[in-house]
Amino acid sequence: MRVLFVSSEVFPLIKTGGLADVSAALPEALAELGLEVQLLLPGYPKALEMVANKAVEVEFADFMGAGPMRVISGRIPDIGRPIWLVDCPSLYQRSGGPYQDENGHDWPDNALRFAVFNHVAAQLSCGVMLPGWRADIVHANDWHTGLVPMILAETPGHRPGTLLTIHNLAFQGVFPTDIYPRLGLPGGDIVPEGIEFYGKISFLKAGISYCDRLTTVSPTYAREILTSEYGCGLEGLLQHRAKDTFGILNGADYHIWDPVADVHIPATYNLQNITGKRMCKWELQAELGLEAEPEAPLVVFVSRITEQKMADVVAAVLPGIIERGAQFALVGDGDRGIEELFVALARTYPGRVAIRIGYEEPLAHRLMAGGDILLHPSRFEPCGLTQLYAMRYGTLPIVRNTGGLIDTVVNASDSAIRQGTATGFAFEQANSEELLACIERALDLYRQPLPWRKVQRQAMAQNFCWAESALQYLALYRSLAPDAVPLPVAATDDPVHEKAAG
Ligand code: ADP
Ligand code: GLC
Repeated sequence: MRVLFVSSEVFPLIKTGGLADVSAALPEALAELGLEVQLLLPGYPKALEMVANKAVEVEFADFMGAGPMRVISGRIPDIGRPIWLVDCPSLYQRSGGPYQDENGHDWPDNALRFAVFNHVAAQLSCGVMLPGWRADIVHANDWHTGLVPMILAETPGHRPGTLLTIHNLAFQGVFPTDIYPRLGLPGGDIVPEGIEFYGKISFLKAGISYCDRLTTVSPTYAREILTSEYGCGLEGLLQHRAKDTFGILNGADYHIWDPVADVHIPATYNLQNITGKRMCKWELQAELGLEAEPEAPLVVFVSRITEQKMADVVAAVLPGIIERGAQFALVGDGDRGIEELFVALARTYPGRVAIRIGYEEPLAHRLMAGGDILLHPSRFEPCGLTQLYAMRYGTLPIVRNTGGLIDTVVNASDSAIRQGTATGFAFEQANSEELLACIERALDLYRQPLPWRKVQRQAMAQNFCWAESALQYLALYRSLAPDAVPLPVAATDDPVHEKAAG
């Protein structure tokens, strides 16, 4: 069974968030089940630079009026997974991020940038671009790939099955209709049953409308998006597609995120012996200019600085955290206004608050290892990965009861602590009172070494490996391509339908 896995981010080639981690780890887990998984990514400058064993597979003097375009094959460094890069310099050879320029403004030609990417994906998957290679399944991810199911649905003849994973419904790829004729879409009709969205076009809506199967990244979020509170205006369509929609929980890649062998931390440690964690905290306090206080609880925040992540509320409660004797360290970027609030707080509390605005992968690891408590409050959260990572590092997460956070963290109620099931702390309402009360509960437990250690051990023992989730994707792929070559695994029952949404 051949899968074309289409994503706009793949770690370590390009990353702005969890999508990159998933697009690196899930294909590996699928390959371990015997599938041939081929990744497809836009040819961003760093990706072109990092990929090994590069070769030009196919070349066009002009593709959709965007100028020269080449499909370049290569291998992801270290893991060696095969990847194709869509090298179209006029669209992707720019400094800045995959979606925005250096000042945080969306690239004005994003519709065309991702339409070209999607056309290349569709043509590759049908075997019309590289003779001899065609896919059984196209696995698309988020709005950046939403046109692929639409293009394929209207492609005559045999086509691969299409699956779209929604990692975040809040980002929809909405553009004015006047761009439509430039996007090379078949049919030409902007219809409410398809790409039309309140007088505009939406790449994500097109994907949801035309894909064969739809998944999202946790069972709870799969149910939540059917409601007006979480559906971002697409709840009606999502209800219509509920029988084809499945919630499959993300995993954590423990090759990268495990204190046993993390190359970015000053001392490794494990469940049996966490001595190294003390060293990680000590070094982190020194690195960030925090007072050298090994006993002071260190609260960390590794996140996009956005309203989704309740970063505004975290800033509001920060003085309360410090007044309760804790230290606070953050690495993150996003909303400029909220970033400034944090920077100002660092000036107010020197030695107690450390703020690093920016995107720093190694520092994120050191915060996971050196912290005691990870803040992960969210107004909505499709899955969330940092709480999974934090647990493995014995850094207890504080989460709001929403989306994938519900599915992954067990609140340390008295009974859960007694029974040994607790792995973190959870609260209900997205406001500062509840967040601060939850932080206070965590700080109280921190000052009781025995129960703290018990919850910490339980958190570290959690296993959110990808193997189980990959089996669920495999079951969906099989339902779409029953004739694809026999697999070397006995997937006898259908684990996915037990977790069906709706
Ligand atoms: P989301 O994708 O919504 O941002 P996730 O929890 O799924 O949230 O994934 C976030 C990923 O991005 C994690 O791997 C986290 O470590 C990483 N991350 C977020 N912000 C930063 C940052 N400023 N520097 C380094 N890594 C970051
Ligand atoms: C999105 C979501 C996050 C999820 C990640 C990977 O960015 O916000 O919850 O973990 O995608 O699926």
